[in-house]
Amino acid sequence: MSLRLGDTAPNFKAVTSKGDIDFYEFLGDSWGVLFSHPADFTPVCTTELGRTAQLQSEFDKRNVKVLAVSVDPVDKHLGWIGDINETQNTNVEFPLIADDDRTVSGLYDMIHPNASATATVRSVFVIGPDKKVKLTLTYPASTGRNFLEILRVIDSMQLTAKHSVATPADWNQGDDVIISTAIKTEDALKKFPKGVKEIKPYLRYTAQPAID
Ligand code: BEZ
Repeated sequence: MSLRLGDTAPNFKAVTSKGDIDFYEFLGDSWGVLFSHPADFTPVCTTELGRTAQLQSEFDKRNVKVLAVSVDPVDKHLGWIGDINETQNTNVEFPLIADDDRTVSGLYDMIHPNASATATVRSVFVIGPDKKVKLTLTYPASTGRNFLEILRVIDSMQLTAKHSVATPADWNQGDDVIISTAIKTEDALKKFPKGVKEIKPYLRYTAQPAID
């Protein structure tokens, strides 16, 4: 059965481009992004892994560990990383799992037989420090993912984990946020000293609180 939000992300041991890992040990207390790609030495995947590497410092800032996976063997990953670095002008530092025995793909339901019998689709799992699944995404092989969107969702999740707020459509860091409907307006006025803007009793905005 596929993993759903709130489920515990399964642990696994894997061979990667950076050596053997235990997933939970690799994550430690950090957030995690585990994402699959269909195959090494393919064009869209090359741009996706390159973009992720370019954004490494943004993932680091948010205390997020990144891990890629496909069913290709580790020697193929190592050869391909050279191409990614060269063509995308970057340096891939995160590990690529060599899932040739399909252990990780099976645990995370990353092979969708009606899309491809053997290759992983473009799945993304964001995992919280509590090892629970916080977000899942599945894209087709022909569409590269937007990694700024993944960072944006992580910003929202890290903010809403700390404050009684939610983030509206197309929200980005610094934009106003929505006050939880569980909070009465008189309490909201005390909790959010920067002000409460009430559009409807169920739709109230305040300035974004600091994430830390
Ligand atoms: C790609 O990364 O370009 C790709 C991979 C598998 C199928 C189609 C495209």
